[in-house]
Amino acid sequence: MGAPKTVLLTVAALGLAGVAAGALVVYGGLYDVAATQQHFQPVYSLLETAMHQSVKMRARNIEPPRLDDERLVMRGAACFRDKCVQCHGAPGVAQGDIGKSMQPLPGPLVDARHHWKPRELYWLTKHGIRMSGMPAWEFRLSEEDLWSVVAFMARLPDLTPQQYAEATRVEATGVQGAPVRTACGPAAAAAPLRVADAQRGARALYQYACSACHTIPGITGSSPNVGPPLAGIGGRSLIAGKLANTPDNMVRWLRQTHEVDPLTAMPEMGVSEQDAHDIAAYLAALR
Ligand code: HEC
Ligand code: HEC
Repeated sequence: MGAPKTVLLTVAALGLAGVAAGALVVYGGLYDVAATQQHFQPVYSLLETAMHQSVKMRARNIEPPRLDDERLVMRGAACFRDKCVQCHGAPGVAQGDIGKSMQPLPGPLVDARHHWKPRELYWLTKHGIRMSGMPAWEFRLSEEDLWSVVAFMARLPDLTPQQYAEATRVEATGVQGAPVRTACGPAAAAAPLRVADAQRGARALYQYACSACHTIPGITGSSPNVGPPLAGIGGRSLIAGKLANTPDNMVRWLRQTHEVDPLTAMPEMGVSEQDAHDIAAYLAALR
């Protein structure tokens, strides 16, 4: 037998052994998915490096706005209190039970500005980190709020627990002694509607958990049957047997579900107007 042939056969045998070992781990249930089980340090470090490089590459063309505006930082503090503290904690505040028991463990972010540039913090907050439990906030925070949280994280290391508590008091006293809520939420003037974007609609479909109940062509999922499958929905004449299938009615169904049908099992998912238009555009193309 010639040397090249031996090498080839050896490689093939090793490959087969690798596939067999992999299959045993997967189908034999050998991999422990418990969140009480830690990664080995080298595996953890490798995953961290891969995550860091991925974020750096994807965020490289983002232009941050000015972040030293005090109002932006205060707004960011309110958003951080409402959306992030449960997992990450804050100066003088422990994270909640969910955050404490996650794997990987969400850190306190006090040193985040030393590890990440503002544009990378923005990317991380907007898109989340898949398979880590870090949620994406693209469909939960406005563009301005995303940057406000970044401005807050950039300031975080300088804040004392007292300053943080002051900035995030739910009831601050307003001009006439009336309580004012330091709020995170839709800007006073909502952004005008853009032309519906079906591609963004596809992202919205899983970010609003629609695919937890519906099997939707083009959206990865576990093929649930809690709601009717949405394959071909664009070609049907009625929505939920009630409304003529037009884009405006689809938006209405998604936003005022219980007004259309008080008895339906479909929950109102808090879909914003723009997101509903984007989702409707995606669904209309399913024929
Ligand atoms: C449900 C829990 C949860 C919530 C809520 C949450 N995060 Fe996270 N976050 C995580 C987890 C888990 C990680 C991954 C930690 C790791 O990989 O080491 C993470 C990682 C991060 C990172 C990268 C940190 C680093 O240096 O590794 C940033 C930045 C971040 N989160 C910001 C935020 C912001 C801002 C919010 C609020 C808008 C938020 N997170 C809300 C769980 C959460
Ligand atoms: C908790 C489960 C659940 C979630 C989450 C959910 N739905 Fe539904 N959906 C249902 C059920 C149940 C129905 C059937 C309602 C009826 O006919 O009264 C339904 C009906 C529909 C219909 C009408 C289907 C038809 O055959 O006419 C559409 C369209 C739809 N849902 C879209 C969505 C979208 C988009 C989302 C995410 C924003 C979503 N659903 C989230 C359960 C869910």
